[in-house]
Amino acid sequence: MTERSFALGDRRVRVLLGHDCLDEVAQVLTALDADRFVFVTDDTVQGVVGGKLAGVVEQTAPALLLSHPPGEAYKNLATLSRFIDLALDFGVTRRSVVVAVGGGIPGNIAGLLAGLLFRGIRLVHVPTTVIAACDSVISAKQAVNTAHAKNTVGLYHPPELIVVDLGVVAVGSPRDLRSGTCETVKNALAIAPGQIPALRRLLRPRADYTAADLGEIFDLSLTVKSRLLLRDPHEKHAGLLLEYGHTVGHALELASAAPDSAARAIKHGEAVALGMAAAADVAHRLGVLGADAVDVHEELIARVGVCRCLTAGLDTETVMRHIGFDNKRGYQAHSSSHVPMVLLSALGVPLGPGQRCLTPVPRRAVRAAVHELLRRGRECGGRCSRGRGAHA
Ligand SMILES: NC(=O)c1ccc[n+]([C@@H]2O[C@H](COP(=O)([O-])OP(=O)(O)OC[C@H]3O[C@@H](n4cnc5c(N)ncnc54)[C@H](O)[C@@H]3O)[C@@H](O)[C@H]2O)c1
Ligand SMILES: [Zn+2]
Ligand SMILES: [Zn+2]
Repeated sequence: MTERSFALGDRRVRVLLGHDCLDEVAQVLTALDADRFVFVTDDTVQGVVGGKLAGVVEQTAPALLLSHPPGEAYKNLATLSRFIDLALDFGVTRRSVVVAVGGGIPGNIAGLLAGLLFRGIRLVHVPTTVIAACDSVISAKQAVNTAHAKNTVGLYHPPELIVVDLGVVAVGSPRDLRSGTCETVKNALAIAPGQIPALRRLLRPRADYTAADLGEIFDLSLTVKSRLLLRDPHEKHAGLLLEYGHTVGHALELASAAPDSAARAIKHGEAVALGMAAAADVAHRLGVLGADAVDVHEELIARVGVCRCLTAGLDTETVMRHIGFDNKRGYQAHSSSHVPMVLLSALGVPLGPGQRCLTPVPRRAVRAAVHELLRRGRECGGRCSRGRGAHA
């Protein structure tokens, strides 16, 4: 395994990267000298890797395996509360370590569990999706959802260590690999355009990435996120740039996942890619972003394999209603006629004034961009070359 690290507040977080290295991962965990291990995973990842890893570690220290059904619906206080009781029954102490094995969902639940037990015990992430490896674990933010909204209850608790087995990440579904890679595209467009040539070389619409490709994609993400976290460990100021594409993106994700939705659920990263297309369109309509920069958005979104036809079944007003609940409300005085958004004036250059890089955008400009996004989605109707297989 190779080692990297990044600073998070007053802590340096070690990152170990390897390929088919589960035994080494177990050795690294054992070396933490914990009195007990609490593994948190989901029922799918338990079968792929979580159960095996916990089994190997258990040969040296008592290990408890906590698992929940996969999905956003289980990232809630009920799962967390059940896990807290089971961990305490198991005899967890301040010397114990919580190990998250899985995507961003078990990662966030484990992060909150570790942050709350005895006001904070050690947390290790073993991410198994691209989104977890490249995005959610490179952060101190931990949260679960409530009936009101996503990520409403949480705290900051940095991990002690991150261990990535790229061989495990690479066996995820093409859609999950693509969804994670969209966040790396976002970093390049909004923060580090110098990474665009590397992405042109790496991205493939079918998302048939090798472990080596994923290692390169991971390093691109780590470079950007570690630079931002150095200045802004709580991701409240410069870190808000990471929210590029998320205003329309979250709304598409939530609208498509609603129980009464006629649309198929859009994954987080896919939604962010489409949200970036909408943000570029908004900025272009307002006359602040040039056509060349819009074209680069289109090119990278095509290369990553996301098409607007994913929005089939959604309507503009439903998406606009969800935009009204965006979690960036409260950063600025709220006005119902404006939506705070991260917009760019050029690739890598935020338009927004002040530290928070948020621009109040007239709702009608956002509505026009959403309307156009959905119209072009209907126009494609799944006929795109990227649609076949790539959306499976
Ligand atoms: N800063 C942060 O805390 C932060 C940042 C980004 C995202 N997130 C959160 O992360 C979550 C999304 O992450 P995600 O997409 O990883 O979700 P996830 O954990 O649900 O994983 C996606 C799916 O992949 C499956 N899976 C995971 N690893 C696998 C593997 N190796 N092989 C086969 N299947 C595998 C899971 O069972 C699940 O069905 C959201 O809840 C989001 O809010 C948090
Ligand atoms: Zn995101
Ligand atoms: Zn299409």
